[in-house]
Amino acid sequence: MKSLLYLTLTLSAVLSSVCASSTPFDTTTLSAPDGSISATFVSFGGTLTSLLVRNKDGGLADVVPGYDDNSRLLTDPGHPVMNALVGRYANRIKNGTFSIPITKDPQPVGPNVYHTPRNDHNGEVRFRLREASGETDFCGQVTLHGGIYGWDRRNWTLVSASPTSVTYQHIDTADEGFPGTVTVTATHTVSNGGILRTAVNTTATEKTPIMLTQHIYWNLDGFQYGSDDILGHELHIPEGERVIEVDGDAVPTGVLIPVPGTHFDFRKARRIGAAFEADPQFQGYDNAWVYGSKNGRTALWSRLSGIRVDITTDQPAVQVYTASLNMPRKLVHGGPGKQYGARSTVAIEQEGWLDAINTPEWGVDQICESTDDAGREFRWNTEYRFSVLR
Ligand SMILES: *[C@@H]1O[C@H](CO)[C@@H](O)[C@H](O)[C@H]1NC(C)=O
Ligand SMILES: *[C@@H]1O[C@H](CO)[C@@H](O)[C@H](O)[C@H]1NC(C)=O
Ligand SMILES: *[C@@H]1O[C@H](CO)[C@@H](O)[C@H](O)[C@H]1NC(C)=O
Repeated sequence: MKSLLYLTLTLSAVLSSVCASSTPFDTTTLSAPDGSISATFVSFGGTLTSLLVRNKDGGLADVVPGYDDNSRLLTDPGHPVMNALVGRYANRIKNGTFSIPITKDPQPVGPNVYHTPRNDHNGEVRFRLREASGETDFCGQVTLHGGIYGWDRRNWTLVSASPTSVTYQHIDTADEGFPGTVTVTATHTVSNGGILRTAVNTTATEKTPIMLTQHIYWNLDGFQYGSDDILGHELHIPEGERVIEVDGDAVPTGVLIPVPGTHFDFRKARRIGAAFEADPQFQGYDNAWVYGSKNGRTALWSRLSGIRVDITTDQPAVQVYTASLNMPRKLVHGGPGKQYGARSTVAIEQEGWLDAINTPEWGVDQICESTDDAGREFRWNTEYRFSVLR
């Protein structure tokens, strides 16, 4: 009797864990014909959930953190924009307010003034599910990553898929207080030679700011080489001569900081950990470098795994964020017993000038016209090319 009860309980536990792990989104795995790279995406946020590349020993490493149960992307109130596409406006918006045309006035009035949810507090993410809390304002000072339900928290529609490519579309109907409908199409492609590309384009029905990123967190050791953090990773931003200065809310002051003599100088490759070792007060990076040319380049590698990624983009800036994720690791990373802890990953986000819509002195135009008016089109293209260090 007792053993029958035990069997029933065990079976139901197994069944419920099977149900819990079946993701309510489309899941697509792409593999390059030469076996150099394999990427899995889910339709929710167009999110990268696994990325396998070759390490120096010829094995495969999963170089991105994530969940084993991807339904957590939907239900985890603390989910840190995990490897998703971010929009309609990535990074911060000062006081969750902007106007079209843009203005320096902190309290603009008029018909074309817009307010977006202030979900970020003292530069700290306050992602919470609106339904779960019943709150509409989050006591934050700024909007982060397109609001509480930005594009990373939307289930995109699967448009097409092949063994090497997947296309998702999302229709944002004036969500989170932004003007007009934006239709966004994103295609992820893998190809021989360890290459992942993401290409995004948009159309809009009204004038609206658009500024996107792909928020991938990296750990190029895949937690296979005894290291739990990215402090030993080397970062190279050859043209990163200036960093956007930010205030305590992580919004721009308008000033650009020249990097020579600062922790921000990655014009020559440097270990990310160097700044932490030189200055015990150093809190970490969450900063944007402005690229010096139209073809931005950032490289990251680890000598432990030998894995290197060269990132090229058509975006004008890159945000580097040495994150402390504080959540259970995927099984492949030694989880769930082990956590993604302090500085276990670094996010490298190709993006526009952050909050340029409240910084008119920069003269950076991020307002896309209605597509019918043949206005400026928004495009976002980034390539990640993996190789093994010699
Ligand atoms: C922030 O915006 C609100 C309107 O949403 C306004 O009442 C408030 O004064 C603004 N705060 C600052 C500091 O400008
Ligand atoms: C999410 O979108 C995918 C792809 O279009 C679809 O297969 C799935 O049923 C959707 N899931 C939910 C919960 O809406
Ligand atoms: C936008 O991207 C999609 C998918 O990558 C593509 O099919 C479409 O032609 C693109 N549209 C424009 C206007 O380039």
